[in-house]
Amino acid sequence: MSFIEVAGAKVDTRHFIGGQRIASSQTYTNTSPIDGSFLGEISRGSAVEANEAVAAAKRAFPAWSALGPVKRGELLLRLAELVEENIETLAQIETMDNGSLLRSHRRGVMPRVALNIRFFAEWAMNELKHEAFETRGHTNNISWDPSGVAVLITPWNAPLMLATWKIGPALAAGDTVVLKPAEWTPLTASFFADLTKQAGIPDGVFNVVLGFGREVGAVLTSHPDISRISFTGSVPTAKVIAHAAADNLTPCSFELGGKSPLLVFEDADLELAAELAVEQYDNAGQVCLSGTRILVHENIADAFAEKFRERASKLKQGDPRDPETDIGPQIHQVHFDRIKGFVDRAKAEGQDIVMGGQPNAELGGLFFEPTLVKNPTPGSEIVTAEVFGPVLCMQTFKTDAEALEMANGTEFGLAAVVVSGNRDHAKRITDELVAGTIWVNCFFVRDLRAPFGGSKKSGVGREGGNWSFDFYADVKNTVVSPNGWKE
Ligand code: NAI
Ligand code: MG
Repeated sequence: MSFIEVAGAKVDTRHFIGGQRIASSQTYTNTSPIDGSFLGEISRGSAVEANEAVAAAKRAFPAWSALGPVKRGELLLRLAELVEENIETLAQIETMDNGSLLRSHRRGVMPRVALNIRFFAEWAMNELKHEAFETRGHTNNISWDPSGVAVLITPWNAPLMLATWKIGPALAAGDTVVLKPAEWTPLTASFFADLTKQAGIPDGVFNVVLGFGREVGAVLTSHPDISRISFTGSVPTAKVIAHAAADNLTPCSFELGGKSPLLVFEDADLELAAELAVEQYDNAGQVCLSGTRILVHENIADAFAEKFRERASKLKQGDPRDPETDIGPQIHQVHFDRIKGFVDRAKAEGQDIVMGGQPNAELGGLFFEPTLVKNPTPGSEIVTAEVFGPVLCMQTFKTDAEALEMANGTEFGLAAVVVSGNRDHAKRITDELVAGTIWVNCFFVRDLRAPFGGSKKSGVGREGGNWSFDFYADVKNTVVSPNGWKE
């Protein structure tokens, strides 16, 4: 069977290449993290399909790039509308496939997917410009030209959301796209492919190849006919991709992991601090930006911990389709075991686990209890490695200098959350923090015009607004002389 039925919609289980559905002879099994139920057999791509997809995208490139931002924009705006018309279906499909909360998909994530497409289409049409520079009468005109075929490799924690952060600007910039969604969550990417067709986006402009990173992803990222690679996922995989890209010097944009600090200062609003801290369990902790290291001033540590416990104890774990649920299952048995491994090793080391620390016995399956580790040994695995699950650490500090040293003392630099009641104080801290995004007295809000990415091992490059186009496009400077004109 070449499709799965979810929420009354048909989701194709085959690749989408050159506007056609193409099956592989091999398949792999996709299950739902909610209850382990069988979702379907998914085409397991090989070098053959990877090469076909790049070829299709390459063939479609001249016409798509020649359309220009306005004609492309009209098609992309239609695509955004189709996403909006299908929010409920997309939300249902994504929840079945990755186990994140249905209510978040409905209210936040899928509307944002539409915005990702609309925003970048409109940006390319109206905002993407730069003042001309004058040098001794010569005018430097700056423009953004389509670059070719962009390969996009995406993870499973927010599948369509993270994919469209890349698809939106890549297509708006005039590139054609080959998307390889994560093998655990292929379904919304496939459904989205049908929407691109419905929107009238020409065949070959957007392609989806399904399957495993080491098989199909490796062929795509080492392909000589591609112009860009944008990847979101883990640091080890980014290194493999960087090697694959090196032979062709293909530019890469990497959005990787984190072990972000959430700093609570003595002057903080403790209710707000506790609220923000508990939010770090969102998506069962499977969020790259999550502030997993809570650093609290020692004078307020007990009061804060009490408020944290109060809120965290109210979190309801369960079926992500239930509107009452706050925390759903982890994505996959392999990932569940990875999380459990981190916690078990922390236990064996004698770390102080003051909350959770084990699978949810009542729910079984892939549900892991929200966990808090108190005062972990500095440098130990639980406080340095990205767990990517509902596991937070809490540590105390005495001075700002100590807080900053702890906050910056990891190999990552993706995000930071600062909770303080004093603007000058907060400014002094944010000036010294190394992170791509810092939230002060808030979390997760981001304007698509602003840059997004990681410092240190958390990433290479920035996307968002002009930064996205700087990456996906070939930025060109045309210097025009005042001399030599005959008219
Ligand atoms: P991963 O980085 O291996 O997978 C992400 C994507 O890369 C998937 O689409 C996968 O198929 C693809 N991929 C894997 N190997 C590849 C290769 N050689 N060439 C091309 N593409 C390849 O992440 P994984 O194994 O699913 O999760 C491991 C850890 O990564 C997590 O525990 C978490 O710490 C981190 N992670 C971070 C994410 C983020 O948002 N920054 C998202 C997902 C995972
Ligand atoms: Mg799945």
